[in-house]
Amino acid sequence: MARDKSNNTLMEKLTSLCKRRGFIFHSSEIYGGINGFWDYGPYGTALKRAVEQLWWSYMVETRSNVEGLDSTVICHPKVWQASGHLDKFGDMMTDCKECKARHRVDQMEDSKKCPNCGSDNLTEPREFNLMMKTFVGPVFDEDHAAYLRAETCQPIFIDFHHVRVATRQKLPFGIGQIGKAFRNEINPRNFTFRSREFSQMEMEFFCKEEESMEWYEYWKEERINFYKNELKFKDDEIRIHDHGDQLAHYAKAALDIEFLFPFGWGELEGVHHRGTWDLTQHQEFSGESMEYFDQESNSKFIPTCIETSVGVDRTILALLCNAYDEDKAETKKEGKAEDGRVVLRFPAKLAPVQAAILPLSKKLADPAEKIYKDIRKHFRAEFDITGSIGKRYRRQDEIGTPYCVTFDFDSLDDNSVTLRDRDTMAQERISADKIIDVLREKIGY
Ligand code: GAP
Repeated sequence: MARDKSNNTLMEKLTSLCKRRGFIFHSSEIYGGINGFWDYGPYGTALKRAVEQLWWSYMVETRSNVEGLDSTVICHPKVWQASGHLDKFGDMMTDCKECKARHRVDQMEDSKKCPNCGSDNLTEPREFNLMMKTFVGPVFDEDHAAYLRAETCQPIFIDFHHVRVATRQKLPFGIGQIGKAFRNEINPRNFTFRSREFSQMEMEFFCKEEESMEWYEYWKEERINFYKNELKFKDDEIRIHDHGDQLAHYAKAALDIEFLFPFGWGELEGVHHRGTWDLTQHQEFSGESMEYFDQESNSKFIPTCIETSVGVDRTILALLCNAYDEDKAETKKEGKAEDGRVVLRFPAKLAPVQAAILPLSKKLADPAEKIYKDIRKHFRAEFDITGSIGKRYRRQDEIGTPYCVTFDFDSLDDNSVTLRDRDTMAQERISADKIIDVLREKIGY
């Protein structure tokens, strides 16, 4: 069955699959859950690590002009004054006095009517700050207040000189970071799309003002290539939303890369020209110079910054939506009478399990396990011995395993195994000695 992206039942199916198969489920569920917080189970964790590793490799490790950073979640509270988050980072919200529901005004079709119960008995819209507050040290007063970071990029700005000096980088160069961010979203929704705790993968690229638009175009292209070539998103699944002239006063350009989720187009990533705003603000609030000395021109200036900023959780949600398929016709090909299979067609590089090793009978467990132990040194692998082979294939299809390696009684004699492809369901006989090389070629390492 072809996937219908406009079909909202897809979200229900995905949410249920994610819980059943241990990808993603509500945090603290035994206490009734906590809205906007999600736990990643074993397969979700493997997928998340693979996505982060792919981004890290693509944006940091394979470039000599981008360095890495791993900063703290809690910074000096002045960071958030300087960045403007304490003053301006908020949404207008209103409460319904009848049903007590709370709404973001910009998300209401009619700002005078409660979308929950239809009442017009609403409070006046109030500004609501999204920063999560905590206290550092034993005294819980305003002098000890601190904030969980609302974006991972601010520590990049304040550590700019540390990284530059330590790595002897000259402009242009970037600093990338992956980590948690926290926003007290009024209305978390659409599964993990809008959460209160989430992870971001951000890269701030520092350059000269006169070269900044060239770098903006460069990073825009690089990020689109990432989605098309690495995550395998198709042309009709992603689009660019250019902010046009709706820009912050310091910015020259900004765009969102959007993905077609089952609930409509949604922002996956922002590519932003941030001008010299952040470094200038931190210079003013800290009193420390954020200038760069350019030997070529023998001049000092504050570098201009181009940002690429994407949420890990939204990327994973997009990958799940993209991968989900129900496949009735092909089930018949394998001669099974059961209902259609559900299959997650993840790119093999990202699949939580890349190869499953399945002995046909429990009697074959020992030699099959030996192959499994070799394979798992190179790939994310799983050994599964329980249930019929058909059921085990279905289970692997549901978690998105691209290759199953079946060890049967003939394998004992001919030292060969059967390699089954998740997408074509084609099976080929392969010498057990060659399995690592064949998988490496197919998975694309
Ligand atoms: N430093 C710029 C910045 O944080 P943003 O547009 O607010 O920009 C960047 O966020 C990305 O972070 C978004 O495109 C999205 O992928 C992710 N993101 C933002 N808020 C989120 C939330 N509440 N839940 C999940 N992901 C979120």
